[in-house]
Amino acid sequence: MAESSTAAAAARVPQALCASAALEEKGRAVLFDVLHYREPARAFALRFEGRVVAYLNRCAHVPTELDWQPGEFLDSGREFILCSIHGAAYEPRSGRCLAGPCGNGRLTVIEVEERDGAVWWLPTRDTRPAPGPTEVTPVQP
Ligand code: FES
Repeated sequence: MAESSTAAAAARVPQALCASAALEEKGRAVLFDVLHYREPARAFALRFEGRVVAYLNRCAHVPTELDWQPGEFLDSGREFILCSIHGAAYEPRSGRCLAGPCGNGRLTVIEVEERDGAVWWLPTRDTRPAPGPTEVTPVQP
């Protein structure tokens, strides 16, 4: 019991992601590596209406990555997260599917914190840091 609660607490240790300034409002996302159910996966964080949100980079329709160019997730109007494969549209604040073949699905939320000018992500039992140094794809100018 104590061992599992220790493991659960360890799973919640915040992981440094990027400087707050790296995420411009409705700009390009920062991509980072995780283990999701022990399998390598990518995740992304972006700033939307002032708040940093992060999700697994995986469409609810077919488990493929969403971005049409690395870090580009938003539609031309910068209002929705769009899947580049079949055009599913997601609500950026919640990850809920709004239109397209994602049905009642939603993106997998990665909890984030922003403090002291930096952004951190919070692992869970299912989504953990990838082994080795966190690989982050920074925003391109
Ligand atoms: S794979 Fe994303 S909409 Fe089909």
